Amino acid sequence: MTVTILGIESSCDDTSAAVIRDRVMLSNVIAGQAVHEAYGGVVPELASRAHQQNIIPVVAEAMKRAGIDASELNAIAFTRGPGLMGSLLVGVSFAKGLAASLNIPMIDVNHLQAHVLAHFIRTPGEPDAAPSFPFLCLLVSGGNSQIIRVNGYDRMQVIGQTIDDAAGEAFDKCAKVMGLPYPGGPWVNRLAAGGNPKAFTFSKPHIPDYDYSFSGLKTSFLYTLRDRLKEDADFIGNNKADLCASLQLTIVDILMSKLLKASNDLGIKEVAVAGGVSANTALRDAFHDYARRYGWTIHIPPFAFTTDNAAMVAITGYFKYQKKDFCSMAAVPFSRVTIE
Ligand code: KG4
Repeated sequence: MTVTILGIESSCDDTSAAVIRDRVMLSNVIAGQAVHEAYGGVVPELASRAHQQNIIPVVAEAMKRAGIDASELNAIAFTRGPGLMGSLLVGVSFAKGLAASLNIPMIDVNHLQAHVLAHFIRTPGEPDAAPSFPFLCLLVSGGNSQIIRVNGYDRMQVIGQTIDDAAGEAFDKCAKVMGLPYPGGPWVNRLAAGGNPKAFTFSKPHIPDYDYSFSGLKTSFLYTLRDRLKEDADFIGNNKADLCASLQLTIVDILMSKLLKASNDLGIKEVAVAGGVSANTALRDAFHDYARRYGWTIHIPPFAFTTDNAAMVAITGYFKYQKKDFCSMAAVPFSRVTIE
């Protein structure tokens, strides 16, 4: 039987709707929110207002691009958390209203799980390159840095995670002290292309097992700027590309060394990456490099699936639909929830 799922994502500052039919993506519409740029970060109150404005046109566009009628939907999947409460409430309330009016089930989706399952989305005309279980997934975003052992669609185990800042936060905070706009990660990535990654050395954490820490790197970066600015008032302007390249290399090295340790210890060579930071080209290059050196089979998402998107919510909904894992109308969003 054909299963068609509408996915809705509104956990942070992207309003997104997507339609998936039997793992094949029929549409994936994302409306970003430029309103936050002036504030150097996401303003929760403004995010929820923008979701309210965007949600109906975004869903309508997703249905139009998919070329389907609402009567063809089997279920509505929505992000229940983690995320900003005011933002989540918009998506959850919309999903409830639409599901009630169509008399179809609702499926609540964990946003983190959805990032991992984005690897199972099929795009028309593309070969099926889904990972096989078990695989390791490096989930790196503005709020998370985790190594997950993925044993099945709904069986995920966090084996390592950051004890302080996330990798995306490290990019963003260091970018901010260099005067770059928010979010700084993509800016650092772009500027790094013209810089020498070995120009500066920043401290790396020494913590056990598969956990991460980025607060020491942030301090080390800040102290380097503070000391060098005493000698050269235009130190940042004169060295921006080198600073970005060196910062990027340090973050990528930290991420990859723990992932390699996990792969070696657990004997798992099927390795994926997900989340906003997976758009970083140095991190992507490192994955290709490790695949060659260590015989990994790697899974790198298309750029459209690195940031928040509803296609990943819809695919997660698709797998939950197979198990009739529905939620009730009483479901409320969770601002915090783990992947397990
Ligand atoms: O998963 P995501 O879209 O959402 C949140 O976690 O909210 O991740 C956003 C993070 C930001 O920290 C952003 O700077 C980072 O992903 N990011 C990047 C790149 N593109 C996005 N970091 C480094 N290089 C990139 N190309």
